Amino acid sequence: MAGVRDVKGTLVRDASDKGAIEWAAGILRSGGLVAFPTETVYGLGADGLNGEAVARIFEAKGRPADNPLILHLWGYDALNQVVSEVPSEARVLAEAFWPGPLTFILKKNDLVPDAVSAGLSTVAVRCPDHPVALALLRAVGRPLAAPSANLSGRPSPTTAGDVLEDLAGRIEAVLDGGPTTHGIESTVIDLTVSPPVLLRPGAVPPEVLRKYLPGLVLAKGVLPELSGGEGGKGDDARPASPGMKYRHYSPRAQLILVRGEPEKIPLRVRELAQDLSGMRVAFLVTEETMVELSGMVNGELVNVGQRNKPEGIAAGLYRILREVDRTGVDVIIAEGIPLNGWGVAVMDRLLRAANGVVEA
Ligand code: TXA
Ligand code: MG
Repeated sequence: MAGVRDVKGTLVRDASDKGAIEWAAGILRSGGLVAFPTETVYGLGADGLNGEAVARIFEAKGRPADNPLILHLWGYDALNQVVSEVPSEARVLAEAFWPGPLTFILKKNDLVPDAVSAGLSTVAVRCPDHPVALALLRAVGRPLAAPSANLSGRPSPTTAGDVLEDLAGRIEAVLDGGPTTHGIESTVIDLTVSPPVLLRPGAVPPEVLRKYLPGLVLAKGVLPELSGGEGGKGDDARPASPGMKYRHYSPRAQLILVRGEPEKIPLRVRELAQDLSGMRVAFLVTEETMVELSGMVNGELVNVGQRNKPEGIAAGLYRILREVDRTGVDVIIAEGIPLNGWGVAVMDRLLRAANGVVEA
């Protein structure tokens, strides 16, 4: 077929090709796996009501069977197809944030296969804000189960090339819609409990959600240092999503996270670099720190963006981790950023990827 590339048996097609969406929908309807772009990261889609198709997602990704998937919907009107109850918060939040990077945990109904929910009585749902994802969902006419389209434990993919790096030969097809805009996954909140619990920080920051959910608490293990550690520590804290217990977003190199007062970071990084002499090191630092370090350390200096623009840092984070990893460095020294706005999600991912944390 014109415009279709074959990469180790996985077919890749430009999402803007005439007929590409129908073509991908056909593969999904017959139980195949298709990776597609969303506004956050690429998802690995399967027919969300077909347990056998969903099971193939776990196989292709090497994903632990106890880690449930998000069902993607074309809109709020599709919610009733998969959940048994819609609490009033879900309606208000969907109105404010859908389509968009906010995932709700709700009580599932009997149509949702166990493979999607990993045997839980709840299901994760979201409506992605991406024209290709929405067109695909409408064309299939069924919810799509879709985790991030990476091998389990690798950084999430933000381009079709990233998907192929991990999954070529393991899935039927990739719809290439260019790089994703947000670069970091959706925020996940549990609406089956009161007060609601933030299970995974993401592209909707906690302070934005608190305007709608003033009582929102953080699940155990979600950045305990955030805002006095509420919800993040203590025995009565809510458990996080099943997926949060696995080591995540890991590059192959060792990753050391350096955080603390911005003025102290350049010196601390230089000290670390001296200790690591003889090793191949890459430095992932803010523009501000980069200026201070240039010419002062051996290794590749990578500018992740301005310290106070966490959206920009989020957008490039996974791409940079993959790029740096491809160069075969032994160690990545990454600079921490302030815990506000998207900085919360960025720091959550860096902390999960890190082998060690150093205070500046
Ligand atoms: O932005 C995103 O959310 C992307 C795009 C593709 O939509 N998807 C994504 O999916 O990041 P995944 O599978 O990589 O992460 C889903 C997270 C996991 O931490 C999982 O444990 C949690 O959501 N999750 C899913 N269903 C759940 C449930 N019923 N209860 C609690 N946590 C759940
Ligand atoms: Mg993932």
